[in-house]
Amino acid sequence: MNNIQNNTEISLDMCNKIRAATKLLRAGGTVAFPTETVYGLGADISIPSAVRQIFEIKGRPVDHPLIVHFADISQLQCWAKEIPDLAWKLAEHFWPGPLTLILQRSDRVPVTVTGGQNTVGLRIPDHPIALALLNILGHDSALAAPSANRFGRISPTTANHVREELGDAVDMILDGGACKVGLESTIVGFSGRTAMVLRPGGIPLAALAEVLHGQITLADKRIFTERAPGMLAAHYAPSTPLEICSSEYIWQRAIELETQDQRTVVIARADSTPHQSTNKKIVKFSMPQDPAAYGNILFATLRRFDHQKFDRLLIEMPPDTPPWLAVIDRLKRANCATLHK
Ligand code: TXA
Ligand code: MG
Repeated sequence: MNNIQNNTEISLDMCNKIRAATKLLRAGGTVAFPTETVYGLGADISIPSAVRQIFEIKGRPVDHPLIVHFADISQLQCWAKEIPDLAWKLAEHFWPGPLTLILQRSDRVPVTVTGGQNTVGLRIPDHPIALALLNILGHDSALAAPSANRFGRISPTTANHVREELGDAVDMILDGGACKVGLESTIVGFSGRTAMVLRPGGIPLAALAEVLHGQITLADKRIFTERAPGMLAAHYAPSTPLEICSSEYIWQRAIELETQDQRTVVIARADSTPHQSTNKKIVKFSMPQDPAAYGNILFATLRRFDHQKFDRLLIEMPPDTPPWLAVIDRLKRANCATLHK
């Protein structure tokens, strides 16, 4: 797509930036770019030194596989082989979109990208800037792009977050504003005739199940860690100590911390915890009731309060129901050590 100026969603200035970004990528550089989920730190998968840089910049272990992003479903067979029918169904229905499929890698995907595995995570992002970048690079190219944060930290959902995380370590940052989903893609793997959600994310389980007529399950924890070695328990961590509390317990805990002179923020859904605190050491922040809207601002909210030098972040546990899976997953991994009643 050399004609990106025809895309009304992209300004002329951004077109020029995207062209400059493709030059950098072809020369083996790294470029952070917006996707609909979170910002990615991109490198051309065919340039080994560029892929190495991603691991170095993020401080990420080299056996932790990267997701490969490409532009068009017609290229799927360039990057994967032995593609199950269920995978085609999902790809046709949800791409471009917040869905990553784990498939057998083709010979064109280097093992350095897949952390030594014979499978590869593939996705077509639903963002005009990401798609323009991939299209200009050409249908023979693909970008490895993990979330553009240091390893173990909160994923960035704005260009400023990327600057905070990576500073000058990345050659260029394309600023596409705030990401519309705000949580990473849903990762789906395949085993025999069933599909399994390995990481809950931007697409709810119910939407996948509808397209696959129920032939999809949530992978149990054990498969989860075997299949996705990157899925360490502790991830998405703010620097401020964080505790996850039930709705019943959260204010009691805040008051307890208050008596220990701790400045605390209580992050809870707007409809819950009606407790009125007059205490200046406790700040209440209301989150949306809708899981997608909640997920959209979760990372930005954690980051914001992390900057404000609180002693403790208390987060109310959302309802234990399927639409909240992705949010609960990120919260637990933001601090798995302190899950309170
Ligand atoms: O929404 C997203 O998926 C974002 C945007 C930038 O596309 N990317 C992202 O990448 O979240 P990253 O690297 O932060 O997380 C990728 C996850 C890791 O947990 C990794 O283990 C898993 O995908 N993964 C990638 N390739 C895999 C493979 N071949 N087998 C199992 N898991 C894989
Ligand atoms: Mg990540």
